[in-house]
Amino acid sequence: MINVRVPATSANLGPGFDALGLALNLYNSFTFEEIPEGLEIVGCGHRYKNEDNLIYSSMLKTFKEIGYQAKGIRITVDTHIPVSRGLGSSAACILGGVMGANGLAGSPLSKEQILNIATEMEGHPDNVAPALYGGMVVSIMEEGRVYFNKINVAKGIKFVALIPDFTISTKVARSVLPTSISYEDGVYNVGRVSLLISAFASGRFDLLEHAVKDKLHQPYRGKLIPYFNEIINASRRLGAYGVYLSGAGPTLIGIVDNDNSKYTMEIKDYLQSLGLGWEVKELQLDLTGATIEWTSVS
Ligand code: HSE
Repeated sequence: MINVRVPATSANLGPGFDALGLALNLYNSFTFEEIPEGLEIVGCGHRYKNEDNLIYSSMLKTFKEIGYQAKGIRITVDTHIPVSRGLGSSAACILGGVMGANGLAGSPLSKEQILNIATEMEGHPDNVAPALYGGMVVSIMEEGRVYFNKINVAKGIKFVALIPDFTISTKVARSVLPTSISYEDGVYNVGRVSLLISAFASGRFDLLEHAVKDKLHQPYRGKLIPYFNEIINASRRLGAYGVYLSGAGPTLIGIVDNDNSKYTMEIKDYLQSLGLGWEVKELQLDLTGATIEWTSVS
């Protein structure tokens, strides 16, 4: 039996659209077993218990790449990453499936091959790369291959996720983006993303207020979220260093000093005052990334 645990991820971090992401200490766990025949999916709602399941289709793609013929498959899931909220739940399912299939087939794939297969399925590497390697990762695609590097983040911050009670699919969130942007907006983002990386690496968290700003996606996607600008302004007032839209949204993330014990309660109260029953979750960077363990079945 194979156990795979994959962290949640937060992509873009404001200006790093489709390139930056980080792993968080919230996890989906999957167990994979080869059984005599058929497909059994345990631990999820009925609508996920079929061959279209993303974990299973990721396994099939991986088996095909490897040239492995599995008899039957049992997948048991224990998921904690909210679905379609911008916290990398689909990247976690894809990576879980790829790693589980690779494990069942005797682990012929390298970590980089796993990254490339998972990225091909997801379409962009900014969730999959930190989910696999942990920490903050910058990643790009070039001719079908992922190039990436980990960024050492200075200590002292936590990530407070403001998770709405509604979903937005990545497909919808990408459909509201323009097909071209101005030179000015491109230059705006280049400066901010460069400042963002150096601020995280050197611990100059005071720079995040401006470094998380973005003109490629947040202005368009923010319109899908009630009180988007008000919540960002309130977060700043309550002491967050910076606030950004996590991935395709709708979750917002406040980057907050580890010693700030008030922000989480106060932003929760603020959201309630707006009539929003959002979940507020304090998270830390996960530095390990996805893990795999083999346990023998007695
Ligand atoms: N970079 C992606 C986006 C992340 O913003 O659309 C969501 O999958």
